[in-house]
Amino acid sequence: MKKVTIVNLAEAKVHQQPITMVTAYDATMARIIEDAGVETILVGDSLGMVIGGLENTLEVTLEEVAYHCRAVRRGAPNPFLVADMPFMSYQASPEEAVRNAGYLVRQGRAEAVKLEGGRSIVAQVRAIVDAGIPVVGHVGLTPQSVHAMGGFKVQGRHQAAAQRVHEDARAVVEAGACMVVLEGIPKELAEQITSSLPVPTIGIGAGVGCDGQVLVCTDLLGMNPSFRPKFVRPFMDGYAQMRGAFEGYVRAVKERSFPSAEESFSSPAAGGRQAVGDKVTRLY
Ligand code: KIV
Repeated sequence: MKKVTIVNLAEAKVHQQPITMVTAYDATMARIIEDAGVETILVGDSLGMVIGGLENTLEVTLEEVAYHCRAVRRGAPNPFLVADMPFMSYQASPEEAVRNAGYLVRQGRAEAVKLEGGRSIVAQVRAIVDAGIPVVGHVGLTPQSVHAMGGFKVQGRHQAAAQRVHEDARAVVEAGACMVVLEGIPKELAEQITSSLPVPTIGIGAGVGCDGQVLVCTDLLGMNPSFRPKFVRPFMDGYAQMRGAFEGYVRAVKERSFPSAEESFSSPAAGGRQAVGDKVTRLY
């Protein structure tokens, strides 16, 4: 894959070429995602739920996002890399937002940062953009406001609410955002926003009319059978396949068919070949 830049993503919107984005949290998954041709990787604060088993994203720290982002960058050098700014890393002031965005670029090697919110965070978006860091907006269902929304609920269903989501999207773009994630909104609203904005929109639970789509990698792989919301399409039954593999391993260990002779080293004294190149290799 050739290096994907912010310019390529802007051109994709102009040429109406759908943009792919997937979340990743580690180098191994990121490498597979890059090899599959995904153009943009998001190190989402969803890592709190996916990696940490938390109920929501509110406890995720800046250091955790930076750590996972650095790992993802090592595994996938070419996709455009976006890091989520966690809850309370940007809300308090534009100065704090710039400092923390800079941390994710320097320590996480992110190429852009994503902030949730609209009109209430335009000063933060402008300050980060002025510091030379691309910003991705995120409007509609914004998981960091889970308590204010009264749960993870579809937003913008009624006219006044739809208008607020639209104004939020417009506000962050006017403040300099280079892309906007539209989450959990009716597809008609997502289409309107997409056609009115000069920058790409990336949808999740927002219908097919966005300029691109994003999914959480473990949802896409069907790894969590107890989380199957309407907007997720599992492209494999990862839970069944991975569970089957672990069960196969348990069986093989219990019946002592793993490791086989071919999968074992033997000492020269026992007649084993001591090849110069005999060594334990790791894939990474
Ligand atoms: O944290 C995340 O993974 C996200 C995506 C769902 C857009 O923000």
